[in-house]
Formats: sequence, C-alpha cells, structure tokens
Amino acid sequence: MKVIINVAMTLDGKIDNVARRGAKISSDSDWDRVDRLRAESDAILVGGRTLLDEDPRLTVKSAALRDERVARGFEPDPVKVGIVSNATLTVKSRFLSAGTGKIIIFTTEQTSAKQLTFLREAGAVVCVLGKKRVDLNAALAFLEEWGIENLMVEGGGGMNAALLTAGLVDEIQAYIAPLIFGGATAPTLADGAGILDGEKLDLLDLKKLDDGGVLLRYQVLK
Ligand SMILES: NC(=O)c1ccc[n+]([C@@H]2O[C@H](COP(=O)([O-])OP(=O)(O)OC[C@H]3O[C@@H](n4cnc5c(N)ncnc54)[C@H](OP(=O)(O)O)[C@@H]3O)[C@@H](O)[C@H]2O)c1
Repeated sequence: MKVIINVAMTLDGKIDNVARRGAKISSDSDWDRVDRLRAESDAILVGGRTLLDEDPRLTVKSAALRDERVARGFEPDPVKVGIVSNATLTVKSRFLSAGTGKIIIFTTEQTSAKQLTFLREAGAVVCVLGKKRVDLNAALAFLEEWGIENLMVEGGGGMNAALLTAGLVDEIQAYIAPLIFGGATAPTLADGAGILDGEKLDLLDLKKLDDGGVLLRYQVLK
C-alpha cells in the first residue's frame, strides 16, 4: 500500500493557526490538486482531532473526477477512514453522512458501547484496535486487506507524526502558502513527541505556483 500525506502549510510550517478551527491555507488551484489526489486515492484518513473538531466531508468535489472514478469502476468518493481514540460522533456528523464513500473507524476501548452501536448503525465499519491509542500498524494492515492500495492522509499534525514515526508513510505532498501564522501552539506538519534524529526525505518534485505558493513532493526514506 502507498501512503501519501497531503498537507497545506504556511512558510513557518503551521497547518492551522492558534485558534485551531481549520484556517484557510490552500489556494483555489491547490484545492483542485487536492481534489485530484483524493480522486486518485482508494481511501482518505484523518486523525481524531481533525475528525471530531472539523467534521470533514472528505468527498471528491469535481463532477468530472467523480465520473472518472465511476468509469474506472469505483464509487464516486473514496473510503473515509477516521482514527480516533474516543469517538463521540453525532447524528449531525458530515463525515458520516456526506458523499458515497464507505466509512471505516479505528478506535480504542475508550469509546463507549453506545457510540460503537451508533457508528455501526450509521453504516460504518468499526474496529477497536487498542486500549488508549489506535494500533496504527494493525489499522493499515486492515486497510490493505480491504484492498486499499493508495491511502491519502489529510492530517492533522499528531496523526502525521505518528504515522511517520511508525515508518508507515511513503510520500509527502506539501503546499506551502505565502503566509505566516506563527504561534508556538499552532499545529505543524508533524507534532507529537518529536523525531530526534529527523525524518529523512528525498525531494521528488518542486513547483512554483502562480498563487505565490510552492508545491513540494518528497519521498520518505526508510
Ligand atoms: N492544513 C492541513 O493540511 C491540515 C489537514 C488536517 C488537519 N489540519 C489541522 O490539524 C489540527 C489537528 O491536528 P491534531 O494534531 O490536533 O490532531 P489529529 O492529528 O487530527 O488527531 C490526533 C488525535 O488522534 C488520536 N489518535 C488515536 N490513535 C492515535 C495514534 N496511534 N497516534 C496518534 N494519534 C492517535 C489522538 O487522540 P487522543 O489524544 O485522544 O488519544 C490524537 O490526539 C487542526 O488544527 C486542523 O485544522 C490541517
């Protein structure tokens, strides 16, 4: 399985500002790239805080890209994957209701039995993989068994860091916007406990964009 982290960040590496409400970073043309990457992916994964705080739809927006997926024999939207220690989704959840993508939620024993039943009745496949934190190796092995060959990760900083630390990421696509957010507590591409030796990368591609941003594509060296 190929795992690609996609991230939009400011020049100072922030993927949101200190308010943590999902600040706009991508330009319109970058959103088109993200939509294409979504359409090319079998599944899109988000971490618990992104899932619960932002409730993303994770659908493919372009009608043409949706049609292309259908022509290739897929659902218009990719599978949506949430990794959340203590799931507390509600009937209002856009993650659960938007689009056509199947939903897989990996969670832990912290999630209540009532919530597990609610998620399953809402049509999600739910796997309890761990006591406090989701076992990421087991989660990705499950996705591989499900036939997921291309997995796109859409953050946040904690989930990116955990996947990188576990050696589970193959590529990073980073849009760098001509912006600085600052703020010591604003999330970055890879938060968590830190990577003392540094994650080693190989630059695959670099593009200067008309919107003043830069698109970088890195292979993660293992
Ligand atoms: N610009 C972008 O491209 C982009 C994309 C997505 C998100 N974001 C931003 O990122 C921020 C959210 O990032 P975040 O770091 O706070 O949260 P996150 O990465 O979305 O989620 C991390 C949470 O996942 C749960 N989790 C369960 N199992 C885990 C495991 N094995 N390893 C790590 N985490 C595990 C943890 O919950 P517990 O702590 O409860 O255990 C952890 O707090 C938001 O501000 C959002 O706007 C930006």
